[in-house]
Amino acid sequence: MLATEITGNGRPVVLLHAFPLSRGMWRQQHEGLSGHCRLITPDLPGFGDSPVPHDSPSIEGMADAVVATLDSLSLTAVVLGGLSMGGYVAMAFARKYPQRLAGLILADTRSEADDDAARANRDRLIALVQQNPVSTLVEQMLPKLLGATTQDSRPEVVAVVRRLAALQSPAGIIAALAALRDRPDATTVLPTIKVPTLILVGDQDQITPLEMADRMAAAIPGSRRVLLPNAGHLSNMEQPTLFNDALREFLFSMTS
Ligand code: MLT
Repeated sequence: MLATEITGNGRPVVLLHAFPLSRGMWRQQHEGLSGHCRLITPDLPGFGDSPVPHDSPSIEGMADAVVATLDSLSLTAVVLGGLSMGGYVAMAFARKYPQRLAGLILADTRSEADDDAARANRDRLIALVQQNPVSTLVEQMLPKLLGATTQDSRPEVVAVVRRLAALQSPAGIIAALAALRDRPDATTVLPTIKVPTLILVGDQDQITPLEMADRMAAAIPGSRRVLLPNAGHLSNMEQPTLFNDALREFLFSMTS
């Protein structure tokens, strides 16, 4: 079972974190949503308190680890959400375990696989982390991980991202970079999704911008897309109140 934080009662909602962070990135979702659902946030394999996988790392393997965690918690079907890498895992889960899905939340993510340039960049980052502290990787990523508004006016959010990322192990980061590099395209999964789906994206997201969110929204029947203002790629940390409002409204729409 993955290391997991659980707060609240009611409908189970599982949120999967981004790279190179951990379940710590959902702190404000636990504060804002635990009165509305049972919020479950695992550390994906190799991050936080979850061990690095022994076998060859893959996004599908991460989805398998999430389903094993649901089994341990005796949860049959959940609302599953993921941000960026967490969204890749959520789409792999939707393909492999559709019967375990009651709803889907895709935040600041994309269905497309890496192209050649992105794959080469993963290899460059693997070499970087093999030779340098994790903080070097974080400093390279920060300008795109956070929106301009956050970088200019919310130093506390920048500090939390730096701290969470620096806590991750080089082995976990290297395994995840290989999994990200080798992940298959998930675009064909999208039209098969039959559960209520919410797509969220920050309007300053440079890594998975609005066009990508709109392509996913067009492909998933009946999905709803919400644009979060003054937020970059880590929209749940940059605009937690708006992010939580959108999730609450989505969960409410599932019951009414
Ligand atoms: C993430 O935020 O999880 C990463 O940006 C995903 C990626 O690099 O593809």
